[in-house]
Amino acid sequence: MTNIKMTVNGKSVSGEVPDETLLSEFLRENLRLTGTHVGCDTSQCGACVVHVNGKALKACTTLAASLEGAEVTTIEGLANGGELHPMQQAFNDNHGLQCGFCTPGMIMTSVDMVNRYKAEGKELTEEAIRDELEGNICRCTGYHNIVKSVEDAAAKM
Ligand code: FES
Ligand code: FES
Repeated sequence: MTNIKMTVNGKSVSGEVPDETLLSEFLRENLRLTGTHVGCDTSQCGACVVHVNGKALKACTTLAASLEGAEVTTIEGLANGGELHPMQQAFNDNHGLQCGFCTPGMIMTSVDMVNRYKAEGKELTEEAIRDELEGNICRCTGYHNIVKSVEDAAAKM
């Protein structure tokens, strides 16, 4: 067993868990933050993406114990009180979701993407968005509106 302490969505959390506990399990089962979805458990679908110290990471293949002291943000922590994050609002406005299963991971990946491109002063083209979303799979195949959503949010972030 391992004692874990980290900050999740701005709150200090801790727990004693088996050494092999994945971050996705810790978030969903210990903290009941079920907005982080698990679609494959093998690092392929991207449904489980969260931010760790400000960068997108697949929670299904990260050991919770390796994140001692880390700052984790999940989809539940993205909005500013009652105000949606511009990326969440853009997915809503542009119909960037169908069943919604991939959506938390798509949004967390996209926020990191836009932040990185802005920090580096690089242009975020449609082609770049499609390349960057390579690690996120939408089984409803709604990619066109997902790309439109990211373009919309990028203009507002
Ligand atoms: S559940 Fe993590 S990548 Fe699919
Ligand atoms: S909206 Fe259904 S999997 Fe993407």
